[in-house]
This record gives sequence, C-alpha cells and structure tokens, in this order.
Amino acid sequence: MGPLYAFANQKGGVGKTTSAVNIGAFLAWQGRRVLLIDLDPQGNASASLGIDRTQLAASVYDVLCGRVAFGDIFTPTSVERLTVAPSRPELAGVEIELADAPEREYILRKAVGALDEFDHILIDCPPSLGVLTVNALTAADYVLVPVQCEYLALEGLAQLMQTIVLVRERLNPNLELFGLVMTMFDPRARLASQVAQEVRAHFPNQVFETFIPRNVRVAEAPSYGEPLVQFDIYSRGAEAYEQLTHEFLRRETQLAARRATFVNRALQVESYPERAPADGQYAATELSAALAKRLPEDE
Ligand SMILES: Nc1ncnc2c1ncn2[C@@H]1O[C@H](COP(=O)(O)OP(=O)(O)OP(=O)(O)O)[C@@H](O)[C@H]1O
Ligand SMILES: [Mg+2]
Repeated sequence: MGPLYAFANQKGGVGKTTSAVNIGAFLAWQGRRVLLIDLDPQGNASASLGIDRTQLAASVYDVLCGRVAFGDIFTPTSVERLTVAPSRPELAGVEIELADAPEREYILRKAVGALDEFDHILIDCPPSLGVLTVNALTAADYVLVPVQCEYLALEGLAQLMQTIVLVRERLNPNLELFGLVMTMFDPRARLASQVAQEVRAHFPNQVFETFIPRNVRVAEAPSYGEPLVQFDIYSRGAEAYEQLTHEFLRRETQLAARRATFVNRALQVESYPERAPADGQYAATELSAALAKRLPEDE
C-alpha cells in the first residue's frame, strides 16, 4: 500500500480540498492509483468530483461506525484510477458518537487496514482539530498543510504543529510533516509575497516551491464536478497543480529513501549487535523510537 497523506489545517477555506482533489487527479492522470478519502462532513471533495451525495447508500460515516468496509463505499470518478470514499453530512455526528469509544483515535487507521490496490491515499480533513482530523493524523504517514497567502496565515499553524507532535508521540510515531503548500497566491499583491516569506522563515525547507495562484478556473471547477485536469488543463491553476504534483512525487521519493536508510540502519544494528556503539544506546527498538520522534536532518 502506498503512503497516506492527511491534508490538514484547522483554518477553514485555505485550499485543503482543492489541493487534495487536484493533486489526486494529477497523480491518477499520470498513471497512479489514488484513493481520496473525504473525511469532511461538508463533503466538498466528493461534490468536487461530481458525486451526488444524496444517492449514496453508504459513506465514510458507515465505515467509521463499523457497518461497512472501505471497499464497499469506493466510488469511481470521471478520472480513471481516481477513486473516492465519499462523505455525507452525518459524518459530523462522529465527533459526538465516538467521544467515549475505546481507542477512538485509531478507528480510521484500523478501517483502512491494507488497501494494496492504491499507490497513494489522500485524506481531506475538515477545518478543525477534532476527532476526525486526529483520526486522519493517526492513520497517515505524512501531513500536508495548505496555507492561504493572506494576512494571519501563520495563525493557528503553531497549534497544528503542536497537534502533529502530540500525535507522533502518543498515537502514530510514523507521522511526518510532508510540507506546506502556499495557495491562492496573488503575485501582484505585496502582502502575499510577504506572507510567503514569513511562512518560509518559520518553516525552512518545508514550503513547496510551487505556489498555487489565485485563479478563477480553480474556483469554478468544483461546481462542474470536475478536477482541473479535465475542466481546464490549460488554466494557470491546472499548470500549477501539475507542477506541484511533480514536486510532490519528488519529495515522496526523497522522504521514502530517507526513512528506508534509517530503518535499515536500525535493522543492521539489530542483526549485528557487535557493531552497535559500546554504550548499547542503539538497540533497534530505541532506534525505532528515535525514528518515531524525528528523522535526522542530515539523512
Ligand atoms: N487557487 C485558487 N484560486 C481561486 N479560488 C480557490 C483557489 N483554491 C481554492 N479556491 C476556492 O476557495 C474556496 C476554499 O477552498 P477549499 O474548499 O479547497 O478550502 P478548504 O481548506 O478545503 O476549506 P474547508 O476548511 O471549508 O474544508 C473554495 O471555494 C475554492 O474553490
Ligand atoms: Mg475542505
């Protein structure tokens, strides 16, 4: 099974859904098998891909309640190889219904299990840091954070980063920040450039080089139920998302290699304990724990 990505930012309207839908569509267009899990009761990702939510027999809500399996709700889209696990408004009830459920943070992770038929699984999170987003972060390998190029863009990011650290420590040692995507960028507005600079200063090396411009075709596409790759592949928005998808794949390869090197080293030490440092600090379990905390910058 390919990596799982949570598209998260508790701030509303920053481009989580637009980015998940369009990166997903470009990945599929390039031959990858993609599952997009709509984990937002608003169901914007499902609607943006032309799914009539009133016609659904079951949705992500039923999966999380244990009534059906993920495979039962897979819905094909107009883009070949792009499958959606759609949501319906009752998903909002999960926050309350699962409030006292045992291991409620792991429900999505258990439900996802091993979906070997996909190369990438993208999760579109709602604009909150509630049970649904925590479930996404617990299931995910990477978190991708869309940031709107506007005043107060940084507001809330500290809280999001703190949540990521907590989830990594307590629920999912695998979780890693994949990067921040600057969205709705207006190159003519000085403020937008200043915001981007400020975000880069706070998150060195973690902001994607490709900025997504503010573009009317990006905003229009969802009402036609089509991602940009179909709606208007020649628009500036589509070009940007295609370029971002290339960068996404390069980063995925880099991070996977870095993880593999580190895990291999841990396994080597386990197989050849005599090679471990004399103080015995590098038992494989401890290395795994170190991996859980943070991958070294120099890998
Ligand atoms: N690059 C862009 N240019 C123009 N409009 C955009 C762009 N990106 C997103 N939008 C529009 O901005 C609005 C918010 O985007 P989107 O729904 O992707 O954000 P979100 O973070 O998923 O929101 P929510 O928090 O409500 O889930 C939508 O109407 C979308 O069409
Ligand atoms: Mg959304």
